[in-house]
Amino acid sequence: MSAQIIDGKQIAQQVRNQVKASIEAHSKDGHRPPCLAVVIVGDDPASHIYVKHKKNACKEVGIVSTCHELPADISQQQLTAMIDELNQDQNVDGILVQLPLPAHLDTTTIIERIRPDKDVDGFHAFNLGRLAQRIPALRPCTPKGIMTLLHSTGVDLYGQEAVIVGASNIVGRPMTLELLLAGCTTTTTHRFTRDLEAHVRRADIVVVGVGKPGIVKGEWIKPGAIVIDVGINRLEDGSVVGDVEYAPAAEIASWITPVPGGVGPMTVASLMENTFEAAINLQTQ
Ligand code: GUN
Repeated sequence: MSAQIIDGKQIAQQVRNQVKASIEAHSKDGHRPPCLAVVIVGDDPASHIYVKHKKNACKEVGIVSTCHELPADISQQQLTAMIDELNQDQNVDGILVQLPLPAHLDTTTIIERIRPDKDVDGFHAFNLGRLAQRIPALRPCTPKGIMTLLHSTGVDLYGQEAVIVGASNIVGRPMTLELLLAGCTTTTTHRFTRDLEAHVRRADIVVVGVGKPGIVKGEWIKPGAIVIDVGINRLEDGSVVGDVEYAPAAEIASWITPVPGGVGPMTVASLMENTFEAAINLQTQ
C-alpha cells in the first residue's frame, strides 16, 4: 500500500481563499477589514521568518496587520502595557505574541493578559478551557489546521484510536482536546511514556509533534493509519524532515502529510480564520 499525500500547501490555499471571500463580503456589508496586531520580542531569526509568513498571509486575504517589534531587553511591565493598549484599541481584532519570549519574561502572564476574544492563537486559558469543555471559542491554530487536514481525507473520525506523540501546550495538548471533541479515543504520549512503539502500533490516527527527526519509525505505523507529522527539523545537510520516518511510513499508511508542505502552511491559514472570526465577533456584537 502506498499512502495518499495530504497536500497542506493546497488545502491552506483553499482556506485562505475562503477567508479572503468572507472578508470581501464583510467589507461589502460596511465593516472595516479585520486587523491583526503581531508582537515580536527580540531578534530570533526563526521567529522573524514565521512572523513574515503571517504578515504575507494577512496581505493576501485582506487582513490589515501591524507589527510591533520590541527589543529583547523589554521589561515585563512594558510588554504588559503594550498588550493593554492593543486590548483597548477598537481597531485591533486579533493580538498575537510570537513565542518563545526571552527567558526573563513570564509567558503565561503575558498570554493571559490578552483579551480572550482577541487571542487569535487560542493559547489563553479561557480558550483552552472552552475547548476542553466542548464549547470551543478561538482554537489553537496548529491543531485546528490539522483537523481541517483530517476532515479533507473524508475519513469518519468517530471512534478512531488517535495517538498524539508529544504533550506540548501549543500542539500535543490542544490536539488531544480537538480529537476528543471529534469523537476519537485519545492517548497522549510524552517523555515519560514507557512503550511509545506499542502506542503508535495500535493508532488509526497518529499525530507527532516532538521536534526529533525519526522518533516514530515507519515500521510502527498500523496498516491504513493516517499519519500527521508536525515536526520541522533541519538536518546538517540542510534538508528539512519531520518527526516520522517518511518513506517507510508512506508505504504502510493510508494518508500522510509531507514535510515541508503538510501541517506547516495550515497554522498560518488557521490564524487567518481565527482573525476573521475574532473580527466578526468584535465588530458585529
Ligand atoms: N511559536 C511557535 N509556534 C507558534 C504559534 O503558533 N504562535 C505563536 N504566537 N508563537 C509560536
